[in-house]
Amino acid sequence: MLAASMDTQGQSQANGGVNRPKQQQQQPSASEPAEMEPASHEETWRGGISEDIERVILSAQQIQRRVAELGQQIAEDYRGRDLLVVGVLCGSFPFIADLVRTMNLPLAIDFMAVSSYGNRTSSSGVVRILKDLNSSIAGRHVLLVEDIVDSGQTLRYLVDNLQTRRPASLEICTLLDKQEARTVDINTLYVGFDCPNEFVVGYGLDYAGSYRNLPYIGVLKPAIYQ
Ligand code: PRP
Repeated sequence: MLAASMDTQGQSQANGGVNRPKQQQQQPSASEPAEMEPASHEETWRGGISEDIERVILSAQQIQRRVAELGQQIAEDYRGRDLLVVGVLCGSFPFIADLVRTMNLPLAIDFMAVSSYGNRTSSSGVVRILKDLNSSIAGRHVLLVEDIVDSGQTLRYLVDNLQTRRPASLEICTLLDKQEARTVDINTLYVGFDCPNEFVVGYGLDYAGSYRNLPYIGVLKPAIYQ
């Protein structure tokens, strides 16, 4: 087994230097940022996994602007209340990270991970909790954050489950709302965008585990999944 250790520069090393960077680089400090220009957004997302996208339906800029609007609205609504923001993994990770950074008020963050039985196009409605909350929600104001509400089965299960734990309030914030696909009633208080009934990826949404890291949301080329 390789034993990792930290050297005096804070660099991670493994036995025999297997994981050592080829060239030792001077790390930037907070007061002296690195001089190297990072690639622009356009450069980073030209080619690569962007090649698999047929068309972009929400640009990174559109998403960021809407997330800021939502965050501002939520912050106003919850000011002075004990707010717990709960992200549903994995899809909500970029959304919740961006959202809470637009909310200037005290809040706590927790996560749940669930898996739903069924295939991608038809959720069976049977949901299993893979990771539960770390903290009690009794008497607290809970905001559930999702990347997308599709059939609504996942949130139906989560809302019913969390209500039994007696929160002071429980509301839903979703970036995308695919109303056409809904099979159960879900009351979404905060919605970023209505979503067309197409298979979309990016900004947390995946296909076979990939594309979550795209900063925009797009429709996959059919050749990728056919
Ligand atoms: C997606 C999404 C929601 C759920 C919505 O999760 O993040 O949790 O599907 O679908 P529904 O409204 O039909 O229940 P997924 O199961 O794909 O897992 P992931 O978040 O890890 O991508």
